[in-house]
Amino acid sequence: MTSTVFFGIAELVTNDELLDGADHSQHLGRLNDAAVVVQDGLIAWVGPAAQAPPADDRQDVGGRAVIPGFVDSHSHLVFAGDRSAEFAARMTGVPYDGGGIAASVNATRAASDEELRALVGARVAEMRAQGTTTVEIKSGYGLSVADEARSLRIAAEFTSETTFLGAHVVPPEFADRRPEYVELVTGEMLAACAPHARWIDVFCEPHSAHAFSEDEARVVLSAGRDAGLALRVHGNQLGHGPGVRLAVELGAASVDHCTFLSETDVEQLAAASDTTVATLLPGVEFSTRSPYPNARRLLDAGVRIALASDCNPGTCYSSSMPFVLALAVREMGLTPAEALLAATVGSAKSLRRNDIGAIRPGNPADLTVLDAPSYLHLSYRAGVPIARALASGGCERLGTGIHRPPDR
Ligand code: NIG
Ligand code: FE
Repeated sequence: MTSTVFFGIAELVTNDELLDGADHSQHLGRLNDAAVVVQDGLIAWVGPAAQAPPADDRQDVGGRAVIPGFVDSHSHLVFAGDRSAEFAARMTGVPYDGGGIAASVNATRAASDEELRALVGARVAEMRAQGTTTVEIKSGYGLSVADEARSLRIAAEFTSETTFLGAHVVPPEFADRRPEYVELVTGEMLAACAPHARWIDVFCEPHSAHAFSEDEARVVLSAGRDAGLALRVHGNQLGHGPGVRLAVELGAASVDHCTFLSETDVEQLAAASDTTVATLLPGVEFSTRSPYPNARRLLDAGVRIALASDCNPGTCYSSSMPFVLALAVREMGLTPAEALLAATVGSAKSLRRNDIGAIRPGNPADLTVLDAPSYLHLSYRAGVPIARALASGGCERLGTGIHRPPDR
């Protein structure tokens, strides 16, 4: 049993609505001049520094702010190859349609396990260095039984939040045989992948010739559910469409992108707010020159929202949650407090996790420190690398990558 007290915390954001003596005005559970005691990787005590209990170790945070580590609930880190030229072409007006995914599939299939593992590890390290402590990782650039299964095996080395995305696009070799590909995904591929995945996802997008229709997506998600996986949906990214409707109908934990939402979509999401989270991915709008969804409209309607990076080689090759927060504040109508909540408790909820996203006794010690006196600097100092996940004394797994909970 080793304990460490972190003191000298100028501002502590806990997201704990029950914390005594905290400022709860924006649901952040904020304390000034605070301390946190970590014991064996878990939060043991939170409160004013002057009342901190003794601990084996003392670490001075030096007047910085500490926040709950970011929960990045949507990423595609298992890929090889480079698509920067596609990004450059888009910036001159070429629209995104999902066709470039095939290039990543070719490069990923050609990579060795060691190469893929090193690529994922470097991206996960990049995330931690920017304050992320939990990441969800999807497959989706293998699109064969063997390549999807190994993508998930490698992802599972870094996180328990793994998502089978065999229904990312129809691979070129199945272009004229779509029903056969859906059969493969829901049959042999699902059987090989389900043991390595917690979630199943589908790119449901009638505006892309490569992605899946509402009916195809329903078949894929239903098969996944029957195999014991919980559901997520890529929906409403390139235009108005059925993604939100389908996600709500099937009780998915999250529908992600939500770039184009009708009034009916918003009403359905609000009515399903206990079950289905709308995950917004503003890095995608940035990198595809798309209009940003109005997050204010969603909050005002009672929709539960999350923010995530969608780090992937096509629509957003940024792993930076601070960048996502800055975009959400500047372009989507959120206050800095709302953006931080969406990127922590909101994204935790989208993963159906109650043990992360808040600094509360009993939770994993997922602490992120800011080289700044307040969380407001996250969007105020956009582009400046002020956030990093804190490796806490006596907690080895915090130093090894992204937090991996025992409850997989
Ligand atoms: O979430 N929309 C589908 N999938 C990814 C992009 C994949 C790619 O272009 O490589 C996304 O935006
Ligand atoms: Fe995605």
